[in-house]
Amino acid sequence: MQCLLKGLSTISASRGLTVKKLYVAMVGLPARGKSTLAKRIREGLEAEGLRVGIFNNGELRRTRLGRDSTAPEFYHPDNAEGRARREELAQENVAHARAFLAGGGNVAILDATNASRARRAMLEARLTDHPLLFVECRNDDPVLLEASLERKAALPEFAGKTRAEAIASFRQRMDYYERMYAPLEDECCWVRVDSVQNRILEERLGARVPFFHRIRDILVSDWVRNLYLVRHGETTYNVEGRIGGDPELTAHGKEQADALARHFSRVEVTHIFTSTRRRSSMTAAPLKAARPDCRIMALPEFDEIDAGLCEGMRYEDIQSEMPEQYAARMRDKYNYVYPQGEGYVTLRERVERGLKRALFIAGDAPGVLLIGHQAINRMILSHFLYRRTEDVPHIYIPQNQFYHIVATQRKKLFELVPFM
Ligand code: F6P
Repeated sequence: MQCLLKGLSTISASRGLTVKKLYVAMVGLPARGKSTLAKRIREGLEAEGLRVGIFNNGELRRTRLGRDSTAPEFYHPDNAEGRARREELAQENVAHARAFLAGGGNVAILDATNASRARRAMLEARLTDHPLLFVECRNDDPVLLEASLERKAALPEFAGKTRAEAIASFRQRMDYYERMYAPLEDECCWVRVDSVQNRILEERLGARVPFFHRIRDILVSDWVRNLYLVRHGETTYNVEGRIGGDPELTAHGKEQADALARHFSRVEVTHIFTSTRRRSSMTAAPLKAARPDCRIMALPEFDEIDAGLCEGMRYEDIQSEMPEQYAARMRDKYNYVYPQGEGYVTLRERVERGLKRALFIAGDAPGVLLIGHQAINRMILSHFLYRRTEDVPHIYIPQNQFYHIVATQRKKLFELVPFM
């Protein structure tokens, strides 16, 4: 009942206007995408003219305690002193958030794990002046956890430790958080999100939550600020008309890779994703040399369609040696599956998985470059273009131009740009 009353209350500003305000508290284990989602909520709401503040406990902890809070023991559930210090920091941010809303802010986001029921009960008890919405981020993708550990290990708080020591330390910290973690359940208003799939898993609104529809929509939106989708440069197989395999680039393919590097040396890109194939990593190589600041990752989900028994063949060989296969593919290219291999229809799941993983790893990066293959890039494009399935295997994928894609809640952009 109290929950309902609080939700229905609106606050009257001095000039008699009704001003709606909201606290949002993120919930989730470390490295589950909470900060990325918090920033997206801020960006989406600010575009509506709202004032949004993020109050991040981790940042406050690093400023106040520095390296003193790096050791995993600081997070041990039985470490009363560590718990007390973390509680103080949480209280401090609660005070900042309250002051922000009192001073004209519309939405205050508390970005922290808020992992235990006790912590959330404290938030509900102290944030009574406006509605409070919890947003829980879930995902247990081991690939993403590994990638996040690598990123965390590079944080300044681990300076002085080897990469392996930093990873072990952060892993231990995560273990401690897992011990105290309790998913949302009895809290008044909450939404549980799969932060990789951008999918709402469960929601409970025990009261009216201002801006909820806006926020919900932000949580489920595709979010990539700038995705540059490139096909690898020309290969020896391309010249011979052969499919699949693991060929290297030709001299012309290397020129294309150089041109790509020249073009992207002037563009803000922080992440480069390739497949595990040589033609993809060779295309990335000059750019990698020019931009050592970029994070480069090879994901097997972006490997070209597996043509099974037809790997290494030319289309005319397939036509003469396996005419039924050739005819079947011509009849229904999307649903056709190569013997002992893949088809577009079976590719969708793994390419989607790769794309979601890449976008999660990139977080709110300003620019992401993905060097894929013909069939792979078609599947990725179909994700953003909503093409009819029968048209997907025919989307145009040149080797001297790239697709520039922007997809956020407020903006969709799609252009084909030449780079040589
Ligand atoms: O020809 C290059 C290539 O990447 C092959 O490895 C792959 O089998 C083919 O393109 C995919 O295109 P399509 O589906 O049109 O045969």
